[in-house]
Amino acid sequence: MQAMQIRKLTPRFGAEIIGVDLSKPISDQLFREIEAVFNDNGVVLFRGQHLTEDQHIDFSKRFGPLEIHVRKDALMKHRPEVFVVSNVYEDGKPIGSVDAGQFWHTDLSYKKIPSRGSLLLAREVPMRDGKALGDTLFCSTIAAFEGLPRDLQQKLESLSATHHYEKGYNRDRPSGKRKPLTPEQMAALPDVVHPIVRKHPFTGKPCLFVNEGYVTEIVGMPRDESEALLDRLFKHCLKDEFIYRHNWRVGDLLMWDNCSTQHNAAGNYEPTMRRRMDRTTLTGTAVA
Ligand code: OGA
Ligand code: MN
Repeated sequence: MQAMQIRKLTPRFGAEIIGVDLSKPISDQLFREIEAVFNDNGVVLFRGQHLTEDQHIDFSKRFGPLEIHVRKDALMKHRPEVFVVSNVYEDGKPIGSVDAGQFWHTDLSYKKIPSRGSLLLAREVPMRDGKALGDTLFCSTIAAFEGLPRDLQQKLESLSATHHYEKGYNRDRPSGKRKPLTPEQMAALPDVVHPIVRKHPFTGKPCLFVNEGYVTEIVGMPRDESEALLDRLFKHCLKDEFIYRHNWRVGDLLMWDNCSTQHNAAGNYEPTMRRRMDRTTLTGTAVA
């Protein structure tokens, strides 16, 4: 029987679980404890997890069914549940998405049923002078919402925003323009509208559910007003007190909640330095 300890990553959110080896059997009781830590903390870190691809998938499936991403080119061969984030090339082709997530976003917020969470396993981490590069930043959308003035919180509670995948997909990025999305991909990705203040599906806490990566506009608001308000909210999320910055080690399994957090890949490494991360993505439940 494995026993776990918990270390907070920041005062407001995030926790490391120590003493659990995810390659070993996880009892239902232990799993329930892990799930509770995840729901309460939004980001959960397990270090030293040298998992096979199937072990990564199997642990992820304990939380429920997994997503198969629309970017088929970034999925692992024979294991489409794994979305590969990597700048590594094999046979002249990238093995995954070369520069995924280098902007503030939550995974799959552009779906009618957004993802519950993602589990990213670090397989290769770029290093310089003994220090790991390619950090990932997280923002607590619960802390961010709590940090807004009451009158603005109330105004936001009655508003919704439109999300679209193409906004993040087509943005400028160091590796240049991506292939346009195919008509099939676009058809699978209609505009979706979600409340700006989303009740967390497990804790009921209010989360600020707008992200710079995929949100295009506030519904029913003049364009300039919508842009100004979104811009204010995106900037507000960047306050130090809402942020956790993760410095990766090979074998880190980091999981995050796609309602109570947003994330951004810092991308501060050279294209010649290898980085490879494997992601599984949990399906979610309808937005209340
Ligand atoms: C992701 C993502 C960030 C990173 O996998 O969803 O945004 O640092 N990755 O690789
Ligand atoms: Mn992401």
